Amino acid sequence: VNHYTYDPGFMSTASCESKITYIDGDKGILLYRGYPIEQLAEHSEYLEVCYLLLNGELPNAEQKKKYEDIIHNHTMVHEQMKSFLNGFRRDAHPMAVMCGFVGAFSAFYHDSLDINNATHREIASNRLVSKMPTIAAMAYKYSVGQPIIYPDNKLDYAANFLHMMFSTPCEKTEVNPILAKAMDKIFILHADHEQNASTSTVRLAGSTGANPFACIASGIAALWGPAHGGANEAVLSMLEEIGDVKNIEKFLAKAKDKNDPFKLMGFGHRVYKNFDPRAKVLKKACDEVLNELGINDPQLELAMKLEEIARNDPYFVERNLYPNVDFYSGIILKAIGIPTSMFTVIFAISRTVGWIAHWKEMLSEPYKISRPRQLYTGHTERDYIPVNLRK
Ligand code: CMC
Repeated sequence: VNHYTYDPGFMSTASCESKITYIDGDKGILLYRGYPIEQLAEHSEYLEVCYLLLNGELPNAEQKKKYEDIIHNHTMVHEQMKSFLNGFRRDAHPMAVMCGFVGAFSAFYHDSLDINNATHREIASNRLVSKMPTIAAMAYKYSVGQPIIYPDNKLDYAANFLHMMFSTPCEKTEVNPILAKAMDKIFILHADHEQNASTSTVRLAGSTGANPFACIASGIAALWGPAHGGANEAVLSMLEEIGDVKNIEKFLAKAKDKNDPFKLMGFGHRVYKNFDPRAKVLKKACDEVLNELGINDPQLELAMKLEEIARNDPYFVERNLYPNVDFYSGIILKAIGIPTSMFTVIFAISRTVGWIAHWKEMLSEPYKISRPRQLYTGHTERDYIPVNLRK
């Protein structure tokens, strides 16, 4: 007789207590440390949001400046990491490079591995927030065969990332402030989302006492899947597959067919069954970016048409399937010129702070190793049969 609760997919299991992020899926509410996501996206900046998530309060002017200086101080990575990068196949997916890079930080930064040392935890946290855009851009540059661009610490977080992505040693790209702002919003909106699959993975890995870089690498791996962070990339692949407005109805029929594995990527959410508040903010940002760039891209038009048709289709309406954050982030990123293979990487850059906040929160309280049980459905006990007697 077992006395465990069986809850596949953790549909009704709270795995921990947390003070970081609040979600009300029915009302479409998302709060970071009590602050509505809409206000943060409108008035704050990503690094300020990082400080808030990590420390529980918004920084005053002095704390903000100090935190920004610290983050700028860590933007470069160890030069030897370039050799590590060169070990990857030239067409390696940037998410594969990210898993490897962050895991490898454990081998490069020995002074921030001791999880019981508050200073080590702090340095690991700062290094991760600071270096994620750098290694993401390195992974991209490697994949297109261009030289790596070093960070420019005079630029803010999002603008610096776009600079490292698009500048070359021959020409420094002037970052368009409207695009940098949209990038910053994407970072803010993806920064945390309570106990989602990747954050739960980080907490679970952390509960074994693993070092911070190993824990964050596990989060990146969990984020990669198309049902989670990989959805923004999957949205663009889906648009490519649909190809033309005239095919929308055919693909909607596939999405509704239970015998067809095709799903409308960027639609639906485990928690938000009314609307995704992040998607609302990003839809506005999406309009601003498309306006600014005056883009006339048939794929983006297709996306807008698909959204309109699906929103009015009874199948999607009855099941409360609305466009989620990844539907619009995919479109914005494409408009900015970010290649599809980098979409999930960008999600990983921004979610890193959420993972760290949860990891630190877990370590700050008494915790146990996470060790779920199972409902065993295999054979009852039986005796070993020597191979010559087996049928
Ligand atoms: N297209 C077609 N049908 C869908 C979709 C979809 N995108 N999403 C859900 N459904 C159907 C599903 O088949 C089920 O139908 P029925 O009741 O007839 O069996 C019903 O809607 C309920 O869906 P569910 O699978 O029980 O919902 P879930 O909470 O287990 O899954 C989800 C949530 C996000 C995994 C799923 O909606 C999905 O796969 N969406 C597409 C992928 C996607 O955009 N993921 C990004 C999520 S937001 C970013 C993040 O948090 O990582």
